[in-house]
Amino acid sequence: MKLYIKSVDIRGFRAFERPLTLEFQCGINLVVGPVGSGKTSILKAIEFCLYGTVSEIKRRIYRKADIINDFSEAAEVTVELASSEKSFKITRTYIRKGFEQLKVQVGEKLLEGEPAEAEVQKIIGLTHEDFARHVFLDYHRLQEIIFGSPATRSLAIDKHLGLYTIERVFRSIPLGLVKEKLDMLAAKEKELKEELDSLPDREELVREIGELEEEARNYDRTIPELEERIKKLKKTLEEQAQKKRIYDELKTKQEKIEAIIEHYRRTRKIDPKTASDLLSALYEKIKENICEGFNLLYNLKKCEELTQKLEEKGTQLETIKLFEKYYEELEKEFDRFSTEIEELERERLSKDIALRNIEKEISVLQASKLEYEELEDELARLTEKYGSEKVLGEKLSQLEREIERLKNKMRSETCKVLLQKSVLEGKSDTCPICEQKIENIDEFREKYRKAVKNLSKLGKEKLESTENKLEEYRKAYDRIRLLRRRLVELEEVVAKYAELEATLEKAKKELEELEETLEDRKRLQVKIKGILRGARAYIKKASSLATALAGWKDITRLQKELEALSKNIDKLNFDPAEYEILENEVKTLTSNLENYKARKEELIQTLEDKRGTLAEIERLNAELAAISQKEKEIERFYKRLLKVRRALREAQSELRSRVIEELKERINEAFRAIYRYGDYEELDIRVENIRTEKGYPRSIYRLLAKRTRDGQWVPILPRLSDGQKSLIALIFAVAVHGLAENKPDFVILDEPAPNIDEVLKRSVAIGLQKLGMQQVIIATQSEILKTENAKIISLKQEMRKE
Ligand SMILES: Nc1ncnc2c1ncn2[C@@H]1O[C@H](COP(=O)(O)OP(=O)(O)OP(=O)(O)O)[C@@H](O)[C@H]1O
Ligand SMILES: [Mg+2]
Repeated sequence: MKLYIKSVDIRGFRAFERPLTLEFQCGINLVVGPVGSGKTSILKAIEFCLYGTVSEIKRRIYRKADIINDFSEAAEVTVELASSEKSFKITRTYIRKGFEQLKVQVGEKLLEGEPAEAEVQKIIGLTHEDFARHVFLDYHRLQEIIFGSPATRSLAIDKHLGLYTIERVFRSIPLGLVKEKLDMLAAKEKELKEELDSLPDREELVREIGELEEEARNYDRTIPELEERIKKLKKTLEEQAQKKRIYDELKTKQEKIEAIIEHYRRTRKIDPKTASDLLSALYEKIKENICEGFNLLYNLKKCEELTQKLEEKGTQLETIKLFEKYYEELEKEFDRFSTEIEELERERLSKDIALRNIEKEISVLQASKLEYEELEDELARLTEKYGSEKVLGEKLSQLEREIERLKNKMRSETCKVLLQKSVLEGKSDTCPICEQKIENIDEFREKYRKAVKNLSKLGKEKLESTENKLEEYRKAYDRIRLLRRRLVELEEVVAKYAELEATLEKAKKELEELEETLEDRKRLQVKIKGILRGARAYIKKASSLATALAGWKDITRLQKELEALSKNIDKLNFDPAEYEILENEVKTLTSNLENYKARKEELIQTLEDKRGTLAEIERLNAELAAISQKEKEIERFYKRLLKVRRALREAQSELRSRVIEELKERINEAFRAIYRYGDYEELDIRVENIRTEKGYPRSIYRLLAKRTRDGQWVPILPRLSDGQKSLIALIFAVAVHGLAENKPDFVILDEPAPNIDEVLKRSVAIGLQKLGMQQVIIATQSEILKTENAKIISLKQEMRKE
């Protein structure tokens, strides 16, 4: 039955908002149109109608809802398939809300739903996957075969050949996981074994636990026995302890008394007779000293009083007390005496200071006194030389008068000379002295010369000497007056000076007396101090002797007491040594008991620990057994999986070689029909088994070609241009198409070889026809050059809008 697509009706599918109906012929159909004109949409509409899906949805390139035209509510495609006998009308509707419907019209019969789906499967005879491999030859899938690394290419080829399913099964076998699990178990086993190794040996441990339990049982027996024994001993000890207390008391008393007696024996070496003689002599000395002390302090009554008191006989100790009392009184009196001395000392000091002050004052006045004396001397000298003040006053007025007289005389002399001069100068001719006419001028001249000489020499000299004398007398007069005034001033100071000197003298005398008294008292003080010291020493000695004498009596009493004590002790019948032995025994036993108990505690603890360890060992052993059991199971499973994998690989490689064998012929057939370059004349596919980087076995396809020029077989893909490669991919796809059984008699190619020229496209179309394909639908952007018998369906950009 030759089945081909007769027509397609498209509504609301992808590019087509408006309905579009296309008629196809049995033979070559070229759907031609520019980019985005809707070529692929037509082909995908056919795929969608037959299978309810497209490979883009399967590969999640877009969702199913995307196949509905954006401006339509539903997509509906009807494909009419026809053969010489029958025709089928398949309509698939898909509403935006997710509702889908399939209807198949076979003659008069209309099928829907599941039966319709089953009918379509039966008509086409291929699954959707096989349809994609054998019928709808999509440019993207073809590209995968020729571009990319050998590994990805080989994978694509496998997929194309339908061999990938086995690979998928092979890969889905979780060998790694199982191995991982096995490793994990092995690691766990190792860990457990290590843990077990770190624990003690089980048998040894069991033996040890047995031993320890035995020991613990022993303690359970011995401890109560020991406790009982200690209880008994303690009771005896308590009884003895009471006796011990009394014994200890008596013993301490005894020891004390013995010690006192011993002490007396040791310290009081002197006997009572000598002691009492010595004491009498000492009493005499004490009395003498105290009496002398009181006498020296002018207290004679006290001595009499003491003598009287001593005569009233008292005990030795009372006598000592009496002496001590008088000694204290004497000491007090002596203290008073010492205080007096101190007061005197202070007085002496203040007097000394007063004396110094007077001396200082005198020294201040000394200068004035000296001045007074000197002035007095000077006054006496002056009076002696110049006479008294009165006489000197008279002499002064006398001299003043004389000077006046001399001056007058000089003045008249001078006048005479002046007149004489005027005569000589011719102003007059009369002598000024005798008032006579001058006859002899020369004589007159001589007289004038003499007069001038006299005036200057005698007159002046006399005046000067008188004046000098006056000056001297006046000075002396003034000095005398001054001295007298000053002397009157100083007189008071001099009087004070004399007074102070008298006071100083008196004070000095007083101080001397005081010092003498002080000296006497101090001497006395030293003496009394000596007496006191002596008395004190004698009293001390006497006191100790008196005490000793008193003690002798006590000792006799104590000795009697001691005898009584010893008897009491004997009566008590207590042996401290025995008591100590008993006490020690109790102590030792108690400490033993403590040790036993501690050891038992320790034992129990150790036992617990060991039992814990044993339990741990048992647990680990059990876990280990479980693990090795599981390990064995998994290992068995692992081996089985390995076998399955091996079988799968074998089956795969068997299948592969068969497919390849069959494919080789078809490829060469297609090669000869389509590839017209002439540089290669034959193709070959070889399978090479390699190991990947990770060590997995992998089959790689190698495409080889026989070079026409030298007949050499060479890998072809590295040598071809991109267009040539596209051709090879197409050749491969066409060959695979030929392999399919139950295939429909049409093939759909969406841009089969994108990068080939128009001429080549034409020869591809012709080649495909030559290969005997009943119906070929090819979508391409550019119209293939004049092709015979080809139906051309031209799409324009606007077409889908019509
Ligand atoms: N759901 C949709 N609703 C509306 N328009 C759509 C929808 N899906 C696709 N189209 C339109 O359809 C056109 C694509 O159509 P198609 O893929 O069939 O073009 P083509 O002819 O195959 O182009 P090329 O030569 O590039 O392969 C685009 O213009 C796109 O906008
Ligand atoms: Mg397209």
